[in-house]
Amino acid sequence: MGMPLERLQSKLEQIDYYPPLFREAFGSPAITTDRVARALAQFVRALVSHRSPYDRARAAGPPGSATFDAALPELSRLGHRLFVAEPGQGARGAGCARCHVSDVQISLSPRNIGLAKQDLAQDVDQGANDERFKAPSLRNVAVRPPYMHDGRFATLREVIEHYDRQVEANPFLDMTLMDRRVAVTGGPVRPIRLELTEREIDALIAFLHSLTDEAFLADRRFSDPFS
Ligand code: HEC
Repeated sequence: MGMPLERLQSKLEQIDYYPPLFREAFGSPAITTDRVARALAQFVRALVSHRSPYDRARAAGPPGSATFDAALPELSRLGHRLFVAEPGQGARGAGCARCHVSDVQISLSPRNIGLAKQDLAQDVDQGANDERFKAPSLRNVAVRPPYMHDGRFATLREVIEHYDRQVEANPFLDMTLMDRRVAVTGGPVRPIRLELTEREIDALIAFLHSLTDEAFLADRRFSDPFS
């Protein structure tokens, strides 16, 4: 909010609807930084998304089981397989889950994914040094374009096309996005080329859409209380 908590406290005290809300939540109308922190923390804890088509399939059975398969359309299923499987000669895989781990598809550490260099004249975000960034969870990713830290991609198709054939070499490029053969022989860094087919790109997009939790998005508790 671009202000220290103490300033927020006095600001909230001057807005008529806040003291009654604090009384409802805490028993007295006093607005303290501790109460502000507790209220915000409790709101964030309530934001649990668990009713996407992918969640329903995961609840039905482990990936690959007949019950999991029955719960997810074929194209999304293919996308999920590609998302998880390692790319390699002959094998079909996009290796996404090497960075986007677990059922929330989050990256544990910042990574450099070989995005094309920006115009350095502008104020460029260096991330956690060397243009490494953390990946946010991919839950509900389909409803929140644009993508990447600088919003450079307008669609999920553009994101997948980046990973497929636009990863650029740089000294900090993540190992998982380098051509494996070079990693083994120690030659100059060459970025990976997944060579996905159109159907495989569609499948990855379909899988990302299966992470959309409509019930969560429509939950009135999380909607704008001022509108
Ligand atoms: C080397 C690790 C790595 C791999 C492999 C990887 N990603 Fe990412 N992904 C990231 C990071 C880091 C970001 C955030 C980059 C940024 O903000 O600039 C990201 C961002 C994204 C985003 C945008 C999220 C948002 O809200 O802006 C999507 C969608 C995505 N990845 C999907 C995929 C898919 C699909 C694959 C497989 C084809 C994949 N990723 C492979 C690390 C990886």
